Amino acid sequence: MNLIHNPVMLNTVIKSLNIKDGGTYVDCTFGRGGHSKNILKKIGKTGKLIAIDKDEEARKYALDNFSKDKRFVFEKNSFSNLVSIIEKYNESKKVNGILLDLGVSSPQLDNPKRGFSFMKEGPIDMRMDTKNKLTALLWLKEENEDAIANILRLYGEEKYAYKIARSIKKAIENDLLKTTIDLSKIISECYPKSKRYKKNPATKSFQAIRIFINKELEELEKILNQCLDVIALGGRIVVISFHSLEDRIVKNFINNQSIAKDVPSNLPITNFEKKLNLKKIKIPLHATKEEILQNVRARSAKIRVAEKI
Ligand SMILES: C[S@@+](CC[C@H](N)C(=O)[O-])C[C@H]1O[C@@H](n2cnc3c(N)ncnc32)[C@H](O)[C@@H]1O
Repeated sequence: MNLIHNPVMLNTVIKSLNIKDGGTYVDCTFGRGGHSKNILKKIGKTGKLIAIDKDEEARKYALDNFSKDKRFVFEKNSFSNLVSIIEKYNESKKVNGILLDLGVSSPQLDNPKRGFSFMKEGPIDMRMDTKNKLTALLWLKEENEDAIANILRLYGEEKYAYKIARSIKKAIENDLLKTTIDLSKIISECYPKSKRYKKNPATKSFQAIRIFINKELEELEKILNQCLDVIALGGRIVVISFHSLEDRIVKNFINNQSIAKDVPSNLPITNFEKKLNLKKIKIPLHATKEEILQNVRARSAKIRVAEKI
């Protein structure tokens, strides 16, 4: 089982955060601390790193491996509580950089007991925060066919959403849905035979159910707005996303905060008057070939960076 997480686009992330000696930074998605470890190398003796993750195993890992470093604090929480977390740990209430590396970590995906993988047999769980009551299986049992199909379509862009939802409910009625492999087979059988072997047919549905169970898009919307309250002038917000729904939210947010609408660009109006909060930092959206060679997860990653103005 993979217990480590190879951080995605590490060099690009560290460069994009533009880390200052003595600054305060927030790693909102600690995972196994791959990015955190490298942020700590750059913040000097008086810098501070606030790390957040809602996963209990991430908390234990942080405690075992990072707690001796006095510049480091860890908060097991949803990152959508960013403002209150910053208030708790940081007197100045402003931070110089915020990192979001969205989605699941390799240890979450690779541990069959967490139920995130359609390749490994385990309970149909998919909770990042195991204190939440709603597992994926419980939701599939409680929800009706139409609502399940809607989620598969909305968050997975799954063409066979209705057929899959119907098969899932039928399997539940017959007590045939217990494990991730049962679910994966049910989904696969809803695909025409000719389409079953390209990409695993369960990919989109598992993604959709995971996004729903962990409220991933709502969490993202909430934290982006809060970033504006806590980021210091010149501070950077760096976001890595892994699918188009997330990336669209990040892109729209940065555009809304960095592009003045209905104001001709040649007028002598300040950014403050235009009510602009951010400047887009132009970097390549995708990982470099070397970054993909180092970490294959980087293949589907997109990175966006903005600076507080
Ligand atoms: C892709 S991993 C991050 C890996 C990390 N950058 C590293 O190098 O080890 C994403 C992590 O964010 C956590 N996470 C996702 N959404 C979260 C949320 N809304 N609040 C807190 N943690 C979250 C997950 O539990 C997971 O551990």
